[in-house]
Amino acid sequence: MSDPLPTSGSLRRRLTLQLVGSAAILATLLFFVVLAFARDTAQQTHDSILLASATSIMDSVSVQADEVTVDIPYAALSMLGNVSDDRVFYRVSMRGNILTGYEDLPHTDQNTSSGQSAFDTLTYKNDGIRMVTLSRRLSLNGAPADILTTVAQTREGQATQLAKLSRSALQLGLGFFLVATVLAIWTAQSSIRPLNQLTAAVSRRGPKDLRPVKRPVPSEMIPLVLSLNQFIARLRTSLTRSEDFIAEAAHRVRTPLATVRTQAEITLRRVEKPENRASIREMIRAIDESSRAAGQLLDHAMVTFRIDSLERKDIFLTETAKELVDRLQPIAELKDIDLSFTGYNCPPITGDAILVQNAVRNILDNAIKYSPNDTTIRVSTQETLSTVLIHVEDEAGGFADMDTDALTHRFTRGENAAGTVGSGLGLTIAREVVEAHGGTLQIETSKSGTGACVSLCFPLV
Ligand SMILES: Nc1ncnc2c1ncn2[C@@H]1O[C@H](COP(=O)(O)OP(=O)(O)OP(=O)(O)O)[C@@H](O)[C@H]1O
Ligand SMILES: [Mg+2]
Repeated sequence: MSDPLPTSGSLRRRLTLQLVGSAAILATLLFFVVLAFARDTAQQTHDSILLASATSIMDSVSVQADEVTVDIPYAALSMLGNVSDDRVFYRVSMRGNILTGYEDLPHTDQNTSSGQSAFDTLTYKNDGIRMVTLSRRLSLNGAPADILTTVAQTREGQATQLAKLSRSALQLGLGFFLVATVLAIWTAQSSIRPLNQLTAAVSRRGPKDLRPVKRPVPSEMIPLVLSLNQFIARLRTSLTRSEDFIAEAAHRVRTPLATVRTQAEITLRRVEKPENRASIREMIRAIDESSRAAGQLLDHAMVTFRIDSLERKDIFLTETAKELVDRLQPIAELKDIDLSFTGYNCPPITGDAILVQNAVRNILDNAIKYSPNDTTIRVSTQETLSTVLIHVEDEAGGFADMDTDALTHRFTRGENAAGTVGSGLGLTIAREVVEAHGGTLQIETSKSGTGACVSLCFPLV
């Protein structure tokens, strides 16, 4: 696992917080605006009823026989009673003289000329009141006389109504905030979704899949995808170059090495001195090591290249295994190894026959190479519900305490490999091929406990 990357926060969290923060500010504003509007509307309604009451009282003021009479209509005060249970006060005065009503009711500070009204919010008898003063000019004994009608009402009902309105405004603000928060989370989630989809599409790819990303993405992500594609293209070029280099180098090294080996063998036959013969044998071994390494590197480069664009054709594993057993029979016979094959016709798997052959050959190679003389190697094929397997079972002592996982990594060899020619690439090639076909390479100790049982397990499609 690679080290976790340092993060500079989460885009989704940042977006969510910003949207939720904006929603909180808007909800608070909404609360105050609704409250102010409701308060204004309630005040205006109350004022217009107060004014209607004062007008009704004023209309009842009349001059009869040079005397001012006031006959307060019942409706003038009862209309205020309809609004709430608040107490109502009134006063009708002329030239500073009280004609009827409460004498101690406060006077307005505002100037009221005839036909005009003035509203005040004051305190009367320790209670808050809203008061309207209406003025009208009458003619009395041929002289003008200003009549002032004042109607006031305590504000408890209004306060209760305002408290109710505040609660409703608060509920509205909270409701708005909750809906906006849900929408904010959803928006943040859906804004980040294309990024997640791109990540998933790139992560789903196999390790060798170096095609450019072509899926449609939002315009803001185009620079990112372009940079990613440029990076993939550079990586592909560099990989191809190194594969070509390995293949070329291996090829150019192997041919002269074969010539040198032949020459060394001829020389060995001619030389008699034991120390010279030992040197030449050392030389031959070194040539074998180099030649094997070059061959395996070449094979590995070829495998990597073919896995990139995997061919998908029917492969009959029983035939492949049988063919390889026949081909390697002479090498097994050199060590008196009994190399046998059992298997019946299994359904075909799909894949690249050259790669599968290469993988199986490496496993057979190992079995022959690490088996002592006069032992048995059993190769068999088997079909399960969803897979076809090739088992190679030998009597070479198995993997003992070796880390079988590590052995499938490049250039890793076991303790039992000392003295045998090899480069540590056989199991790597086999694993990469099997995995490229969607299968698994299983490395275990055989049931008899005397050797290894390596299985190449390919899925049936
Ligand atoms: N059948 C086997 N029995 C015992 N040990 C094995 C067997 N197959 C593999 N090994 C061990 O696993 C190691 C890795 O095998 P691998 O085939 O990758 O490399 P190699 O055989 O050493 O070299 P080469 O690249 O030439 O095949 C070997 O060095 C050996 O120690
Ligand atoms: Mg090997």
